[in-house]
Amino acid sequence: MKQLYIETVGCQMNVLDSEMVVASLRKQGYELCGSPAAADTILFNTCSVREHAEEKVYANLAKLKQLKASHPEKIIGVMGCMAQKDQRLVFERAPYVDLVVGPGQLQRIPELLSQIQLGGGQQVAVSLVRKDGYQEQIRRSHETFDPLRDPTMRPTPFQAYLRIQIGCDKFCTYCIVPMTRGPEQGRPPQVILAEAQELARQGCKEITFLGQTVNSYKFVEGDKVTRLADLLEMVHEVEGIERLKFVTSYPKDMTKRLLETVRDLPKCSTYLNAPAQSGSDAVLKRMKRGYTVSDYYAMMDRIHEIVPEASVSSDFIVGFCGETEQDFQQTVQLVERCRFKNSFIFKYSVRPGTRGATLYEDDVPEEVKIRRNNELLAVQNEISQADNLKFLGRRVEVLVEGPSKMSIKRDEQGPIRQMTGRTNCDRIVVWEGNERQAGNLLSVLIHDASSHTLFGAVETMEVQPDVVALPSL
Ligand code: SAH
Ligand code: SF4
Ligand code: F3S
Repeated sequence: MKQLYIETVGCQMNVLDSEMVVASLRKQGYELCGSPAAADTILFNTCSVREHAEEKVYANLAKLKQLKASHPEKIIGVMGCMAQKDQRLVFERAPYVDLVVGPGQLQRIPELLSQIQLGGGQQVAVSLVRKDGYQEQIRRSHETFDPLRDPTMRPTPFQAYLRIQIGCDKFCTYCIVPMTRGPEQGRPPQVILAEAQELARQGCKEITFLGQTVNSYKFVEGDKVTRLADLLEMVHEVEGIERLKFVTSYPKDMTKRLLETVRDLPKCSTYLNAPAQSGSDAVLKRMKRGYTVSDYYAMMDRIHEIVPEASVSSDFIVGFCGETEQDFQQTVQLVERCRFKNSFIFKYSVRPGTRGATLYEDDVPEEVKIRRNNELLAVQNEISQADNLKFLGRRVEVLVEGPSKMSIKRDEQGPIRQMTGRTNCDRIVVWEGNERQAGNLLSVLIHDASSHTLFGAVETMEVQPDVVALPSL
């Protein structure tokens, strides 16, 4: 058995890609190990969305320099978005790297590893750079890689991601994703359904559809157009699947039909992630997000009208080029008005290769970005806490994921230990439970709440009187 070590950063797409790569290498006789020192092959699945994410990978690569010098036979590979963006530059910064593979070429990893083992030297497999070919060529060079599934690589065996779309064509000016992941392409509905059925066979109960703008999903076949709502209806019928989620939504494509589908399908989670990014029209325009603040409010009204119990989360970038204090205060107002379940807040990081990097100056000082980040987070946390407290005394239905982080940290030995799971609206719940609850839907009575967590207790089960069949006389 060859030993494989893999480290993954970035978004859910990368988590899924790592699952696929591990599954394909298992077929080639690899097994996972816990450290680079024990490994024959070391892979980094990387992210380029902010500079910090890239610097961390280069720092981790630097730590392997010695190891590689003393064990030249170990293979070091860089895959994912930074591999696509930096390509051969990776070798300049880390000459001892053997392999660079973009997210659209992952299917080649087994073959490239064999070539390196046969003495073929450094290998690079990346997709075409946008504008470096015909649309169709570029599209084909970004292949979706979803051949095999590996339940052991998932956060839990009963929850899985399912890619319905690759790439992005929105070109928000700050964002590198359209360059690293290529043109937006929807996967065929039949392929998605077959994969959902396979996941159900593996015991998966919850499927999360993935796409950079998942609700823009469109697949055209002759005169038949399939949308996200159609996919939800299709997969809803798959026996064994109990919950359906989808991330990330593009605010402009949150249609009435999609929301009605979320409302009408009982297995559909009422959690929506629809990043606003900013509460200022001037900033949204420079970001080229394609909507105004009032469009965003109209979307929120639509959500609340059609799916009153929905919980919405958002992403924000603070300190984008030219963001004034007034712009920022408008973002604070938007958060206060929308009362998101939670917000992911990021400081703007210039990405070479984006329109934002050439058009605008990164003119908000770092300390101002930090302050705005903290201020917005404090506003959001207060809202999360207040809204979570509204759950006190209520029963929620939880899909049990397993022992909580705290239980693992405390090294509690099962089966009685603190358990965790999520509600249908994606709130995290913990309670004193039993390991055997994992994978089940359970009713939990909430008795306390913080901004991130609901604390509860499992209700005592109603005891059904035994029905004894009397012998017929
Ligand atoms: N496809 C998703 C998110 C992609 S990246 C969407 O469109 O919503 C995840 C988040 O990272 C974004 O929502 C944005 O808030 C943040 N982000 C993207 N580029 C960034 C940059 N250059 N600097 C800081 N944050 C960034
Ligand atoms: Fe990036 Fe915008 Fe595409 Fe999201 S929609 S991946 S932020 S370009
Ligand atoms: Fe990062 Fe690529 Fe995802 S840049 S956020 S890993 S799509």
